[in-house]
Amino acid sequence: MTKEELKEDLWRHFFKNPRKNYNPYIYKLLDFPEYIIYDKEIMDSYKGKWREFFKNDNPIYLEIGSGSGNFAQGMAMRYPERNHIGLELRFKRLVLSATKVKRDNSTNALFLRRRGEEILSFVAENEVDGIYVNFPDPWEENEKNRVVQENFFKILDVILKKGGKFFFKTDHDKYYQDVLDLVASLDGYEVIYHTSDLHNSEKAEDNIKTEFEQLFLCKHNKNINYIEILKTK
Ligand SMILES: C[S@@+](CC[C@H](N)C(=O)[O-])C[C@H]1O[C@@H](n2cnc3c(N)ncnc32)[C@H](O)[C@@H]1O
Repeated sequence: MTKEELKEDLWRHFFKNPRKNYNPYIYKLLDFPEYIIYDKEIMDSYKGKWREFFKNDNPIYLEIGSGSGNFAQGMAMRYPERNHIGLELRFKRLVLSATKVKRDNSTNALFLRRRGEEILSFVAENEVDGIYVNFPDPWEENEKNRVVQENFFKILDVILKKGGKFFFKTDHDKYYQDVLDLVASLDGYEVIYHTSDLHNSEKAEDNIKTEFEQLFLCKHNKNINYIEILKTK
């Protein structure tokens, strides 16, 4: 398909019916075919084969809600021997993310427009070595909508390798405590590190800041909570 044909067809991936006006960033997705996949069928066709996409045998790391891509860009640069896949829903954030990794000529970063809840459709058993969730919405009024809850660990049961890790950062003190409590109640997962003050901890030096993290630090001087969880079974 030509770019013009793709453009005509693009709305079908996101909406049931065509609309009069579209978010201009929708069309910009087409400028980054090597860094953004928005077609669910294509994503699903890579289930169990993401290493083929990256043309290497390196471990796969997933980031759910990758925002505007600062963290993905930093990880891709720091760990060239890893493949980093960010899942994000917002068009502008996807385009900003792709712009950043393209500027670096990274070949180990990719962004998918897909919900974290749908991971099992496009990631196979034991395909992932690590998962990052940074500053997810705490859904104060409706906690059952949170990304990290019991069902999330059922997904990790499948896709995360034994010995793989889940890394969680949040400004939200209750979400932090709730995840600690949840993991304590689960078989097969162990908290191996946690701090309610990441920026004054031994992990501060290695920490790659996300956009939301910068905001919380600069504007609100908020403590940042951080947890590392090991999959033991
Ligand atoms: C509060 S922002 C944090 C963004 C980034 N991690 C950061 O720290 O700057 C949460 C992001 O998750 C995305 N998001 C929300 N629900 C999601 C879901 N179910 N699957 C994937 N991404 C999601 C949102 O579009 C948003 O960009």
